[in-house]
Amino acid sequence: MKKRNITLSYEEMPKQWYNILADIKLNPPIGRDGKPVGPDSLAPVFPMNLIEQEVSSQRWIDIPAEVLDIYSMWRATPLIRAYNLEKALGTPAKIYLKNESVSPAGSHKPNTAVAQAYYNKAFGIKKLVTETGAGQWGSALAFATSQFGLECKVFMVRISFDQKPHRKTLMQAWGAECIPSPSKLTNAGRQVLDKYPDTPGSLGIAISEAVEAAVSDQSGETRYSLGSVLNHVILHQTIIGLEAKKQMEKAGDYPDIVIGCAGGGSNFAGLAFPFVYDKMNGKKIEIYPVEPAACPSLTKAPFVYDHGDVAGYTPLLPMHSLGHAFIPPPIHAGGLRYHGMAPTVCQLVDEGIIEAKAVKQSEAFKAGVLWARTEGIVPAPETNHALAQVVAEAKKAKEEGKEKVILANFSGHGMLDLNAYEKYFSEELSDFALSDEEIEESEKIFKDYPKPQHLKSR
Ligand SMILES: Cc1ncc(COP(=O)(O)O)c(C=O)c1O
Repeated sequence: MKKRNITLSYEEMPKQWYNILADIKLNPPIGRDGKPVGPDSLAPVFPMNLIEQEVSSQRWIDIPAEVLDIYSMWRATPLIRAYNLEKALGTPAKIYLKNESVSPAGSHKPNTAVAQAYYNKAFGIKKLVTETGAGQWGSALAFATSQFGLECKVFMVRISFDQKPHRKTLMQAWGAECIPSPSKLTNAGRQVLDKYPDTPGSLGIAISEAVEAAVSDQSGETRYSLGSVLNHVILHQTIIGLEAKKQMEKAGDYPDIVIGCAGGGSNFAGLAFPFVYDKMNGKKIEIYPVEPAACPSLTKAPFVYDHGDVAGYTPLLPMHSLGHAFIPPPIHAGGLRYHGMAPTVCQLVDEGIIEAKAVKQSEAFKAGVLWARTEGIVPAPETNHALAQVVAEAKKAKEEGKEKVILANFSGHGMLDLNAYEKYFSEELSDFALSDEEIEESEKIFKDYPKPQHLKSR
């Protein structure tokens, strides 16, 4: 019998996260005056125990027992050997997907949501406020806060709020409040609505609203929570790659190529960073974050300092950015509609250790449907971007007659994204191409900001 599903027992699950800050150099977050922003200034936004993780350079960080206990509801997640897809493509490549869709919320997002809820609770926080794109992150945090008895408020990007109404219901089921963004509840939201009343919204706007709502709460018991981009978020996600490494070992293989879709970078980094560590220590391996061609921060935008949100509430972060006021076209992969990218991922791109790819929405859905028809699970629109790259690499391996081992992250299922598939099947799904002029225009916003250095980690 073919071994399609490679599992790990609880005992075999990793008990520490991997912190890439021990192994790479990073430009610090700064203010517009160019001065580094110290941990203390983040205290109204995040609890101090998470701020300490954000700046820690300790390579291995213990996963608290309470977090491991909740992880064990669905972890270790299966590593799937995609025999049917290999056969359909007639490729000599071996294809492995780490299936993060088995979590209660349906994606990788609970890996950090549970950890963040745990650390906030331990710090005495009673309520978390966040934003969500497609609704995966909001529902993950709603699930996690329900486990720890915390309140949760979610600003959901309006286009996704309209496209995916059941995500809101899911958040409600876990006891969270979900509001379409931009909203009239915050200054940031009102300012955008005054200028663009019909805007589809963006992650950048929703982040501004959530930060503002969290820090303006007078109780002192509310904090903000971010589902991607930041170092501590990516730290929590490395459970994916650490498990995958053990599972690949069990399968008797090691990847030649590692792939993940990239919105803010967390699921990609979660899978890839343990392999980046190997690469920096001499392994030969290609590592590809895959973004939408309609929101091409890594592949088209420069490495600069820019804000993580539209209103400019966050410090300046060193990243590839399309400009913090950029409103990405309304593609269905709402979780990939972000103007920037995790600084750690950007640093690795800048150093040439990993190489970014971009995929069009239609190509992504084509690969997602092929996956559904071969391997059974309907993927999230975000995940389809990784799958499109998997298909491209498998076809390349066929042309070259090479038995490449491909490992990718299956970041989430698409059972609440079926209206996007409906649009795809009725040929109503368009590809949005951004002209160089549009990109240049939106990038004017950071032209006077300080510039990051091109650092070398090794
Ligand atoms: C299923 C899924 N994959 C990927 C992403 C992109 O986020 P990140 O790049 O942080 O993994 C999201 C974000 O909402 C998502 O829901």
